[in-house]
Amino acid sequence: MSRSVRIVEVGPRDGLQNEKAMIATADKIELIDRLSGTGLRTIEATSFVSPKWIPQLADAAEVFAGIHRKPGIAYPVLVPNERGYERARAVGAEEIAVFTAASEAFNRKNINAGIDESIERFRPVLERATDDGVRVRGYVSTVLGCPYQGEVPVPDVVRVAAKLHALGCYEISLGDTIGVGTPQKARAMLKAVAAEVPMAALAVHFHDTYGQALANILACLEEGVAVVDAAVGGTGGCPYAKGASGNVSSEDVVYMLHGLGIETGVDLDKLADTGRWLSALLGRETGSKVGKALAAA
Ligand code: HMG
Ligand code: MG
Repeated sequence: MSRSVRIVEVGPRDGLQNEKAMIATADKIELIDRLSGTGLRTIEATSFVSPKWIPQLADAAEVFAGIHRKPGIAYPVLVPNERGYERARAVGAEEIAVFTAASEAFNRKNINAGIDESIERFRPVLERATDDGVRVRGYVSTVLGCPYQGEVPVPDVVRVAAKLHALGCYEISLGDTIGVGTPQKARAMLKAVAAEVPMAALAVHFHDTYGQALANILACLEEGVAVVDAAVGGTGGCPYAKGASGNVSSEDVVYMLHGLGIETGVDLDKLADTGRWLSALLGRETGSKVGKALAAA
């Protein structure tokens, strides 16, 4: 296992995109600023998608312009097309993430395009990003199952991940969008992708719908992955993935990693404080077991 792991905190984007109630722009900014004080090195800040599709993040420009960006922290933002790229660049984004899926059916529901069509849409975005010195992360969704198609063949995951990597994405995040995966399947999928894309360029992104996320992460750590996506307070889910629930919580991942002797650079107490603050804001119990335990301790 790697001696250190980078957590990609996706709460401000994956977490908040799925909230029913609208969250004030100032609260989104405060969330990111609090996260910036925890030692996290990557915080996905927001999403420049169509506000018709994700009204929850329609204030992406205001949020991004309002945060206090700290040196040494990357603040990637989701971008689905050139329009999104221009909006993100207009407020100074220096890292973006493009996203597609291993399942044709999910991709059509989520971004209204087939897999290959979506990758063609990213091509000019990546070209412009390269010219502008903007780093690009790539997501592959539904790597362990699709809410519409069911089983997703591993070769489909490998094909899409390899395409995004060849297109110039420096890192490919493999997303179990609906949290149906189990450890052996997660391990086998990661191994297959790592035969085509270097492990150092891979990340894992687990939703915890069936309570398997930490077990899946452990299996993937054992295979050598060193980048893990997670959301503070276990928020998250995609409105276009029926049945998807929260991401694995960052607090739980950090607790497990530190218990394994793996360095993250994250201050767990500060992170858990932020999780509690977010739960109070959302008016519900935290989705993080570690967050709950630390509050009771
Ligand atoms: P479309 O309707 O096919 O395309 O949407 P369109 O070009 O006809 O655009 C529709 C309208 O949106 C138009 O406005 C465009 O101008 C506007 P109108 O002319 O009707 O007034 N528009 C935009 N506005 C602002 N910014 C933009 C933009 N693009 C178009 N960038 C589109 C296609 C891709 C835009 C749409 O389907 C979309 O935005 N989808 C986003 C869905 C989404 O964000 N899902 C959640 C993120 S993915 C996820 O959560 C999974 C992940 O966490 C990993 C995992 O868990 O697996 C990453
Ligand atoms: Mg997700």
